[in-house]
Amino acid sequence: MTHPPIRTAVFPVAGLGTRFLPATKASPKEMLVVVDKPLIQYAVEEARDSGIENFIFVTSHGKECIEDHFDVNYSLEQMLEQRGKTAELEILRSSQLAPGQAAFIRQQVPLGLGHAVWCARHLVGNQPFALILADDLILAKQACLAQMMSAYEQLGGNVVAVMDVAPEHVNRYGILDVVNDDGVHVQAKGVIEKPAPEQAPSTTAIVGRYILQPEIFKILEQQQNGKDGEIQLTDSFPSLIKQMPFHGVRFKGQRFDCGLKEGWLEANLAFAYTRPDLKDHLLASIKKHCGLDYH
Ligand code: UTP
Repeated sequence: MTHPPIRTAVFPVAGLGTRFLPATKASPKEMLVVVDKPLIQYAVEEARDSGIENFIFVTSHGKECIEDHFDVNYSLEQMLEQRGKTAELEILRSSQLAPGQAAFIRQQVPLGLGHAVWCARHLVGNQPFALILADDLILAKQACLAQMMSAYEQLGGNVVAVMDVAPEHVNRYGILDVVNDDGVHVQAKGVIEKPAPEQAPSTTAIVGRYILQPEIFKILEQQQNGKDGEIQLTDSFPSLIKQMPFHGVRFKGQRFDCGLKEGWLEANLAFAYTRPDLKDHLLASIKKHCGLDYH
């Protein structure tokens, strides 16, 4: 059976980013830079590498620079061209989206991730779509979303990226209630948002990549506030699971929670280490600074 292809991705970028203050006071968390690229650009590139053609951003007041980032910066382009800076021009152009590829809609009040996704309902329409949380940065040989697309082609329904976490950390994630597990694909019969360790049905945790069916919008429309008083996306999954298959994919790659300072710091080290132009400098810097006492 063939399943409708996924061509649209939603990027919710309307959160407050309070765990990363003061960096996020006047600039969006999704514009935090890892090495030399903002988180949201990594997310868009992952989507593009996975076959996505339509990019929907759920933004909010104060996030206008995200829109600018994917736009043409005409005067800068002209300047670079005049000065013969072709490499820089190439970098600039690679961050642009083609005309008509990007759409922006506002979540006026940060009522939660579930609400942010619901805000995109008219732009998505009646088709399955991908959802990417830019602050979950994934370093992988094959884009995480592309790995999920392969699973979706086989399985259809809803597909989420999962990883195994330590039992004491289950209260940070949506956790699958597993019915079947072949080591890569994990079929779920339920999902619980941030359970206490003693109530967790497994240690298989969802990270910020999803392929969802449009039925999710009807469920979100009626959903009550959950944990932290927010409309949680995870709370809509049990109703979705009653209607159609729901699988997790243990992706190959390393995930960094860049919504936390520790995760962001680690991501910088890992991404710099993969860069031939930075690797030696990184290793030398660690050696130099680790033994020093700055206080
Ligand atoms: P988080 O759960 O990390 O929340 O959101 P947050 O508000 O960004 O950060 P903290 O908890 O205050 O530090 C996960 C993703 O969902 C988006 C965020 O922008 C982020 O990409 N989000 C969250 C929204 O778009 N709207 C919301 O109301 C909440």
